[in-house]
Amino acid sequence: MYQVIALKFRPQRFEDVVGQDHVTRVIRNGIDSGRIPHAFIFSGPRGVGKTSVARILAKCLNCEKGPTSTPCNECRLCREITASRAVDVFEIDAASHTGVDNIRELIENARYAPAMSRYKVFIIDEVHMLSKSAFNALLKTLEEPPAHVVFIMATTEVEKVPLTVLSRCQRYEFRRIGVDDIISQLRHISSLEGLKITDDAMMTMAIQADGSMRDAQSIMEHLASFGKQEIDVDSVEEILGIIDHATLRSLLKAIVDRDAIEMIKLIDRVYQFGKDLTQLYKTLLEQFRNMMLLKLGYNELPIPLEDKAFLTDLVEAIPFEEIHRFLSILIRSEEDLKYSMLPRITVETILLRIVSAPRLADLAKVIDAISSGKLPALPEVAIQPSTREEPSLYKKPIDGHPKLWEGFLGYLRDHDHALYAVLSKSRLVSEKEGEVVLSVSSAFMADQVNRILPDVSKRARGFFNRDVRIEIGFEDAGKGDKEKPPPSEIRARAMKSHVVREVLSQFNGVIRDVRPKK
Ligand SMILES: Nc1ncnc2c1ncn2[C@@H]1O[C@H](COP(=O)(O)OP(=O)(O)O)[C@@H](O)[C@H]1O
Ligand SMILES: [Mg+2]
Ligand SMILES: [Zn+2]
Repeated sequence: MYQVIALKFRPQRFEDVVGQDHVTRVIRNGIDSGRIPHAFIFSGPRGVGKTSVARILAKCLNCEKGPTSTPCNECRLCREITASRAVDVFEIDAASHTGVDNIRELIENARYAPAMSRYKVFIIDEVHMLSKSAFNALLKTLEEPPAHVVFIMATTEVEKVPLTVLSRCQRYEFRRIGVDDIISQLRHISSLEGLKITDDAMMTMAIQADGSMRDAQSIMEHLASFGKQEIDVDSVEEILGIIDHATLRSLLKAIVDRDAIEMIKLIDRVYQFGKDLTQLYKTLLEQFRNMMLLKLGYNELPIPLEDKAFLTDLVEAIPFEEIHRFLSILIRSEEDLKYSMLPRITVETILLRIVSAPRLADLAKVIDAISSGKLPALPEVAIQPSTREEPSLYKKPIDGHPKLWEGFLGYLRDHDHALYAVLSKSRLVSEKEGEVVLSVSSAFMADQVNRILPDVSKRARGFFNRDVRIEIGFEDAGKGDKEKPPPSEIRARAMKSHVVREVLSQFNGVIRDVRPKK
């Protein structure tokens, strides 16, 4: 008789349950020590073993050799439970029996002693689906449960189960099953089933299953039904409707290279092949996340080695900030796609938004460059966005600009803090090649600056590679607040600073607020 893989390989003993040791260990200990609660609740995603563990638990309670944490699986009661035929074990799907009447019937049934075993076991699946009155009815029984009754409730949405119910249950949280665990289980099954599957195919199935053993197994089952000699990654991509990895790689490369034309061509190709663009989008999101983590130096990504090598190469070329921003744009735009009637155009638009964003420089490098006075060249921008406040500033190349006073100050801060401490109290009025005008707020300060001027000039000569004439003026300190420059003036002054402009353009920023220096 043909049996689907998921059923054929349903774990029948706690040892066979993969990836849920934290749950099975505690349940076993409880049974071994004779403490058997009247209600359990199993929460967790689909296909991770909740129903399987509930059935094993029912056997533990009712096995002829029990109660035991190692049911024999051979006695009549065990075998009946395996086959879902046990008269004292009831499986109720709350999703289709939400009403209070169903629960009343169940409670009525619970009052009578079991027909032929130790316990009456009620396994209630998707228990969060019960109506409010059904929960209330259930609660009464949970408060005073008959001695021979055990409830095992399972749910994928535990937050929807009333606290009053939860507090009467022993609670177990099932986890997503890790890629490695899924792969070894798939290996185990495929060897017993005589299936040949390549490693990459196995890995792709396990990743796509997203933590669900049941999903992983049904993907494998589906592939096996084609009767191919060997299941490779192409067939997995094919049946899952995911974009093939060659195209995916080209697409990622086109995005990183900001090659808009190539990108549009590739999207078109994916579209022509009838692939689901939402799936493509999801894949891109995952890949950019992988890229971000690789850039961070995170090495534990469960992806095929070859993919890892490819992505590592790819992220070499772009700074972390840029990957991070690409990812943020993808995440923020997800809604657009969800509600779009024209997914293809939407995907194109979102990706164009990404490749046309101004390039971001490496934050660490920029800060370094600014503080050492060596400003990096303004990165080339592939397509100029139109949303900037002052577009002219962003277009003006400032490569090769003479080294700047602010840069010099940064240099002093690191190399001669005494000079910096005094000089930083002055304000830059103007700067030309070889000439700098500073102003300070008082005659006293002017005197201070004048005293260090010879040293500053020496430092400046070293830094700028030429003589720099430094002039000091002072603004009358007695002017008070009313004489403080208006914000528009401060803003205009700020925009004159090359450092400010450089920072704005490197980080694609705008000036939000200006305040007079104290
Ligand atoms: N932790 C696991 N270990 C081994 N197989 C599992 C596990 N979880 C699920 N499976 C497989 O998936 C099938 C469905 O699992 P099930 O216990 O019904 O999951 P759930 O009730 O959590 O949705 C099982 O028959 C089994 O083949
Ligand atoms: Mg289930
Ligand atoms: Zn038994």
